[in-house]
Amino acid sequence: MENLHDKRKIYDRSELFESQIKQNPIEQFRDWFIDAEQYPAISEPNAMAVSTLENDGCPRTRMVLLKSYTWEGFIFYTNYESRKGKAIELTKRACLHFFWPPLERQVIIKAELERLPENLSDGYFASRPRGSQLGAAVSPQSEVIPNREYLEVKLKNLEQEYEGKEIPRPRNWGGFMARPYEIEFWQGRPNRLHDRILYELTSDFDWKISRLAP
Ligand SMILES: Cc1cc2nc3c(=O)[nH]c(=O)nc-3n(C[C@H](O)[C@H](O)[C@H](O)COP(=O)(O)O)c2cc1C
Repeated sequence: MENLHDKRKIYDRSELFESQIKQNPIEQFRDWFIDAEQYPAISEPNAMAVSTLENDGCPRTRMVLLKSYTWEGFIFYTNYESRKGKAIELTKRACLHFFWPPLERQVIIKAELERLPENLSDGYFASRPRGSQLGAAVSPQSEVIPNREYLEVKLKNLEQEYEGKEIPRPRNWGGFMARPYEIEFWQGRPNRLHDRILYELTSDFDWKISRLAP
């Protein structure tokens, strides 16, 4: 076993003051996302953890790629019949989490989710590299499969079936739009006195801004 008691980092890169932040959290997200995109050591700034609630009352988290964000919310693509897909269909909610260690920042987003309109999923699917299209069509995501060969054989068969033809988007694969109703921005600070700014959507569709204790 390993004792990690002395493994700690001093956070002193930046700060987050009410006087600097945007009134709209999507705009604030954009500022931070651009910083993350421009930071060379952050190879996948759009990688986020997505947590969904399962039947046993325990959340389950996995990484997913953010594929766009708009004034409405955050878009990612997956298999609708996967474990996360089923959980989302049931609860219509998820928590998205970004951590950009070199910037000492995390963002936590609670959101209501719905499927993207079919034409938008079609458009994105058509823009993907052929290998990714085939992969999505071949994989019964989250199902138990007999072995690796099962996938390789299915891939080969599908490659032959669609040789020289466009691969249609599988009906069970597409996007989710996550509309935020709560977003927290966390900036690491010295002495564990971190900055935490919380935006909460009000009933009249405005954003209430508060500071949380670290
Ligand atoms: C960096 C990273 C990005 C990923 N992006 C996606 C993605 O965009 N969509 C997706 O369905 N799975 C993605 N995955 C795989 C998921 O983490 C997960 O294994 C898969 O979606 C099945 O999850 P589930 O069984 O909980 O539904 C990604 C994994 C990693 C590590």
